[in-house]
Amino acid sequence: MTTLFTPRLTIRPLTPDDLPTLVAYRNDPEVARFQAWALPATLDAAQGLVSPAPLGAPGWVQRAMAHADGLLGDLALNTRGPQAELGITLARHAQGQGYAAEALRALLTHAFGPLTLHRVYASIDPRNVAVARLLSGLGFRHEGTSRQSYWHRGEWTDDAQYALLADEWTP
Ligand SMILES: CC(C)(COP(=O)(O)OP(=O)(O)OC[C@H]1O[C@@H](n2cnc3c(N)ncnc32)[C@H](O)[C@@H]1OP(=O)(O)O)[C@@H](O)C(=O)NCCC(=O)NCCS
Repeated sequence: MTTLFTPRLTIRPLTPDDLPTLVAYRNDPEVARFQAWALPATLDAAQGLVSPAPLGAPGWVQRAMAHADGLLGDLALNTRGPQAELGITLARHAQGQGYAAEALRALLTHAFGPLTLHRVYASIDPRNVAVARLLSGLGFRHEGTSRQSYWHRGEWTDDAQYALLADEWTP
């Protein structure tokens, strides 16, 4: 188990008590619009996100972004050898207050520090301007966009790759 601390957040494993809140924000159409989970999100499906596996363990490892007032969102790292994909979601009421940038700074410092990863990347819908701006602000490069490369929520969707190398990261 890995717990990361930021000025306002604790990044820790999800617990069963977090799941009603997580399912509620995952069913918010604004939050789900560019995300891959099946709708409606259910408590049953969310059980699979509760795991004590440490960040950096092979495959997707999910973490809570917890604030003194409760669960604000979740993030995840999908590690395959020396590379990992990240994902992040905040409840609508918690967006636009710098929480994602704060959490990802801690995650990247951990990924390129103790986990010694070489490359972290994200795959986004280019219409998702919030996440494009978030990643660019952290130093991720836009590597390219695959046009209409997957079918998502009823339409062919573009897939933009963003990546950051260990030697490009400034904590
Ligand atoms: C993407 C997301 C995680 C950003 O979280 P956040 O906490 O609101 O982001 P921050 O407040 O840390 O802001 C980071 C940057 O994005 C910008 N930003 C945030 N929301 C924005 C929006 N709706 N439109 C434009 N820019 C936005 C901020 O201004 C900031 O840029 P700056 O540093 O240049 O000022 C959040 O909007 C979210 O959870 N969206 C729904 C789920 C999702 O789509 N996740 C990404 C899937 S890959």
